[in-house]
Amino acid sequence: MTFTVAPCANLEEFGQAVFAIGQYFALDPTSERMERFSQNLPLERMHAAREDGVIVGGAGAFPFEMTVPGGTVPTAGVTVVGTFPTHRRRGVLRAMMRAQLDDVHDREEPVALLWASEETIYGRFGYGMASLAGSIELPREYAAFARPFAPEGRLRFVEAEEAAQLFPRVWNAVRRRTPGMLSRTRAWWEFRILFDPPGHEGGAKRFVVLERDGRPEGYAVYRHKPNWENGVSNSELEVVEAIALDGRATAEVWRYLFDVDWAARITAFLLPVDHPLLFLLATPRRMRMRVGDGVWARLVDVGAALSARSYAADGAVVFDVIDDFCPWNTGRWRLADGVAKRSQASPQLRCDVTALGSAYLGGFRFSELVRGGRVEELRRGAAARADAMFASERAPWCPEIF
Ligand SMILES: CC(C)(COP(=O)(O)OP(=O)(O)OC[C@H]1O[C@@H](n2cnc3c(N)ncnc32)[C@H](O)[C@@H]1OP(=O)(O)O)[C@@H](O)C(=O)NCCC(=O)NCCS
Repeated sequence: MTFTVAPCANLEEFGQAVFAIGQYFALDPTSERMERFSQNLPLERMHAAREDGVIVGGAGAFPFEMTVPGGTVPTAGVTVVGTFPTHRRRGVLRAMMRAQLDDVHDREEPVALLWASEETIYGRFGYGMASLAGSIELPREYAAFARPFAPEGRLRFVEAEEAAQLFPRVWNAVRRRTPGMLSRTRAWWEFRILFDPPGHEGGAKRFVVLERDGRPEGYAVYRHKPNWENGVSNSELEVVEAIALDGRATAEVWRYLFDVDWAARITAFLLPVDHPLLFLLATPRRMRMRVGDGVWARLVDVGAALSARSYAADGAVVFDVIDDFCPWNTGRWRLADGVAKRSQASPQLRCDVTALGSAYLGGFRFSELVRGGRVEELRRGAAARADAMFASERAPWCPEIF
């Protein structure tokens, strides 16, 4: 069976294409919701797969700027990918991935990024696991810090309108130095972060800002879900997002979140694996941090992507890259002085493009990938050299599923 895949021409098609993933999320693509969603996902970035003119699948891509070590890179944030259950396993996803990656390549976005619903889906299209994300569930009685702590800032509640002014200042400062963090437009703040659909079962979103000398240094978005059992509060405080400029501000924001009365436990998802809480808390084991795959990255243009980031060590390495889905990347690439160029030199590391996606943000080392059977070391010492070059000061962090 062949399917045609093309960008959506209007909001009605957009809604039908998004309804593919909506099938699995119990999501009703009302025109109001689609209007809101399309504020961040331009119609031409939403591909629809059709059979005999009828939409049977959809795949979108947000235009992001992603932080990489030493800079930023235009990145396609792949989203709302779905095939109607009536058409599964007949090649709809493959056709959509083909059209989407060709489009991303034409747009000169060197990288594509996504959150995978299942780890088995995207490797065949060149995506590799690029970061780890931790979720925590801390009983409040174990929320003491290891060291004495005296807050220096002031916390106060803000309404969405003021949050839209203050939070981006903190976000932008942190994202510029954190690989994997993404740019946010005003519409992104308004319709995704600060928007709160009424009647959420986890409680309403609360917005709190931390200020020192009148300047925002951190913020938190959280929900407090009340629950009483036998006269005792068993409520959950769910941290949606907590971002702060430095270690001290991070400690202040989390101290606040841990101390809210009635919360029996504090939960958070999508934390980076180098989160300061591991050292702030006296009993970090009590967070029961569960670590799983975070974002997946695909180098759509190997040369441009590798040249868009900076490197932590001097040296050169020659890769022999295999990329069956985007064959324009296949072949040898020499990376030296921060630039990747086509080369005839003897290859030192051979790998599928997925392994470059895994190493790109510094989340995984080549030596790990060698041991895991994803990279072949053809010249001894090449993996260690590449590890030193690709190292990142911070673990990659993408605080939000998009
Ligand atoms: C995942 C999903 C999009 C796959 O769509 P599809 O149209 O059935 O996929 P295709 O028929 O094009 O399959 C392409 C390839 O992926 C494989 N594949 C598809 N879904 C897979 C899955 N869930 N796990 C493992 N492999 C999968 C197919 O076997 C096929 O392999 P091949 O290239 O070796 O032949 C579809 O099942 C779906 O909508 N699932 C629910 C929503 C979802 O998970 N979306 C992804 C969000 S990140």
